[in-house]
Amino acid sequence: MAEKKKCLATVKSQSELAPGIYSLWLAFPEEYNVASMAKPGQFLSLYSDDGSRLLPRPISICEIDKKDGAIRLVYRVAGKGTAEFSSMHTGAQLRIVGPLGNGFPIEEGKGKRVMLMGGGVGVPPMLQTAKDLGTDTIICCGYRDELFLNEEFAAAGDLHIATEDGSAGVKGNVMDAVREDHLEADVIFACGPAPMLRAIKAYGLEKGIPCWISMEERMACGVGACLGCVCKTTHKYAHSHVNNARICTDGPVFEAREVEI
Ligand code: FES
Repeated sequence: MAEKKKCLATVKSQSELAPGIYSLWLAFPEEYNVASMAKPGQFLSLYSDDGSRLLPRPISICEIDKKDGAIRLVYRVAGKGTAEFSSMHTGAQLRIVGPLGNGFPIEEGKGKRVMLMGGGVGVPPMLQTAKDLGTDTIICCGYRDELFLNEEFAAAGDLHIATEDGSAGVKGNVMDAVREDHLEADVIFACGPAPMLRAIKAYGLEKGIPCWISMEERMACGVGACLGCVCKTTHKYAHSHVNNARICTDGPVFEAREVEI
């Protein structure tokens, strides 16, 4: 199935938002318009031109421009593969597979007070999610130190920020911002590192708030090939008959009570 989704994307533009954090806009061939199919919380897998790196790099979708048929990825350079992508200029082409994964269930948030929580490179997928939900959305972003996309989030909803070093917003993590800023919600969508998602799951269980969490940090190949992303689930999946899910193909978004983190 993944084979069918493969295409050659063209770099529309690329810029560095903060040290090591890049924003990449991609355009797609007319006959395979990835942007028209994509939804927030899904991801693309990007292939390196270097034959020694066969597995693709999964990168979450930050923004979808359906009108212009373009998708924005915001990613951190974390190795040779992402370093190669960061050096690509306008007009360069790269092989991608996507859109992949299930995405956030936007319909679960309609008419409700939604809080979006993003940590680190889990921040970018919250931008299109916020845009699809509307400006009443509470957005809580956690950064290590340098901020990125914060101005765009401020325009997309009610933004609250936490930084580990206290250089902006609340000192600490997103849960510290929830407590200090007295944030309340009916439903939570979150993406970030496992400790953050674990804390959000515990908070949701304590308060009786449904939480949808994206576990994309745990992915490796992104296309179901390496089994490096398996997580334990509370129910058996029909296709596997076991209490396991592949984050890249069954997720990356799960209802928090369904998965062990
Ligand atoms: Fe490789 Fe899911 S990331 S199988």
